Amino acid sequence: MSYARIIGTGSYMPDEVITNHDLERIIDTSDAWIRERTGIAERRRVAPDQTCGDLAEQAALRALEAAGVPASSIDLIIVGTCTPDRVFPSTACLLQQRLGMRHGSLAFDLSAACSGFVYGLGVANQFFRTGSVKRALVIGAETMTRILDWTDRSTCVLFGDGAGATVLEASDEPGILSAHLHSDGQYSDLLGVPWGPGQGYEKREQVGPYITMQGNEVFKVAVRTLSRIVDESLAANGLKKSDIDWLVPHQANIRIIQATARKLEMPMERVVVTVDKQGNTSAASIPMALDTAIRDGRIKPGELLLLEAFGGGFTWGSALIRY
Ligand code: ACO
Repeated sequence: MSYARIIGTGSYMPDEVITNHDLERIIDTSDAWIRERTGIAERRRVAPDQTCGDLAEQAALRALEAAGVPASSIDLIIVGTCTPDRVFPSTACLLQQRLGMRHGSLAFDLSAACSGFVYGLGVANQFFRTGSVKRALVIGAETMTRILDWTDRSTCVLFGDGAGATVLEASDEPGILSAHLHSDGQYSDLLGVPWGPGQGYEKREQVGPYITMQGNEVFKVAVRTLSRIVDESLAANGLKKSDIDWLVPHQANIRIIQATARKLEMPMERVVVTVDKQGNTSAASIPMALDTAIRDGRIKPGELLLLEAFGGGFTWGSALIRY
């Protein structure tokens, strides 16, 4: 049986920076409130003519370059996103064409909100374990600012845009040691976009196509759930907390990240944090953070990484990876 190893990462952020001070000018908020409650200082926003696929393409090209392999050698592309370019075809199919991947290779989007990248890794891992895929691109890409109500201060301060990508290759050595994916639809009203095209376009005016969230409820469930994830991942691999070299968490909120790090008894120096500069980029946040820490030399070959995410659905999951 084959494992999936990371052989290259890449990320991309759009140019426009929106600081907390910029937001102070459009809604009743303050830099201090946002920093204190979330750890966010700024986030990026896509240009009017950019799409999720454009961000994904840039991240993918950088990951392929880092891996030193051509797009034509990729068997599988998964794009974790809740802000796809179109209803269909999938952003992954559009990318397959743009990147010049082999016609007939497998490409699909994966909808698991903020857990989209970890879900993508977990699903890709199964293809490697059965030997049906030798190389894969797993991407998290989002244009969250397109689904924000800019008059709702409880949500619009939290999110940003970006993309991150990982090239995986079959190997006899791990690689992804295990991935654990979960969902629970009973909380669907706490966080989400209440409208989708399946409801018909008339309904859109009534419910609105923007993110709604009961932030403090989400916060409580996220902290509780992420603590369980840590135990599950370690137990499945017979590992202890001190074996983990790096925690690469979903970047939603610094307080949620700190709570998970406490559970792992991990100093914050061993936790990759990018939420201050990027806000919550949903499925893109983990691969962007991973790429940042690999490129700046913090994460080194052979180290053990715990990736964990929680998001709308609710969905949650983790991946334990030997880099
Ligand atoms: N600026 C100033 N005041 C604000 C703002 C803002 N941007 N937003 C809300 N407030 C006000 C509220 O109106 C409320 O005022 P009131 O007491 O007069 O009614 C007060 O601040 C407190 O509101 P709460 O919602 O209770 O604030 P809380 O301390 O819970 O912080 C936050 C809100 C930051 C959203 C927090 O609940 C949180 O981080 N939740 C997690 C949600 C999350 O990260 N979701 C992302 C997707 S899921 C995931 O990725 C994990």
